Amino acid sequence: MEAQELITRTADFVREKFLHEGSGHDWEHIRRVWQTSRGLATRVPGADPLVTELGALLHDVADWKFHGGDEEAGPREARRWLLSLGTQEEVIQRVETIIREISFKGLGVPTPMSTPEGEVVQDADRLDAIGAIGVARAFAYGGHKGRPLHDPSVPPVQHDSFESYKKNTGPTINHFYEKLLHLRDRLHTPAAREIADERQQFMQAFLAQFLREWEGEDVR
Ligand code: ADP
Ligand code: NI
Repeated sequence: MEAQELITRTADFVREKFLHEGSGHDWEHIRRVWQTSRGLATRVPGADPLVTELGALLHDVADWKFHGGDEEAGPREARRWLLSLGTQEEVIQRVETIIREISFKGLGVPTPMSTPEGEVVQDADRLDAIGAIGVARAFAYGGHKGRPLHDPSVPPVQHDSFESYKKNTGPTINHFYEKLLHLRDRLHTPAAREIADERQQFMQAFLAQFLREWEGEDVR
């Protein structure tokens, strides 16, 4: 199958699968990560367009958060799908590697990407977790899990292991301190860092205003 047809067929498959997902892992998230990845890949020497696009489209195909903590569910589902299209083994393996390495696992846990395509897709995924969209997705996720918006009596936790990060049930505002505010400094590609600057400023302004309103500091 031609590269373009592999991509189109995969996009159709993923769109169909995620269209009705409401926890922030919807098709529109995948579509943005796909689009951003395509843009970043043109500015990253050595990033193969086919592997990048398939990795972006399939990066959340079976997320561990919704599969009982099974980290191999994603790579397995991606392989199954790509095999059904007769994709080359080498391409399948490179896509599996992206999915295996992409997840955030806690502030104290490094998550290096071993390939340029992986760096592009992880950066695109993380850009979608910050800025205005990132704020919206965090509260959508928190709502889905029944978490409070904020609770000043529960301090943010520094997660030093994936196990600890997985068990986290804190209020949504803590997620900003436990993950979102740190993503910009962990981006790999200069192109993504440029985009992140404005999103980071927005997120910081949002938090400052949120905490002001929480305390009623603007009420007089
Ligand atoms: P990503 O797609 O960046 O890998 P995840 O899959 O970890 O992110 O999470 C999907 C979305 O849900 C992200 O926007 C993320 O910030 C948000 N999210 C994940 N865990 C939490 C949490 N504990 N509280 C609030 N939002 C969360
Ligand atoms: Ni994602």
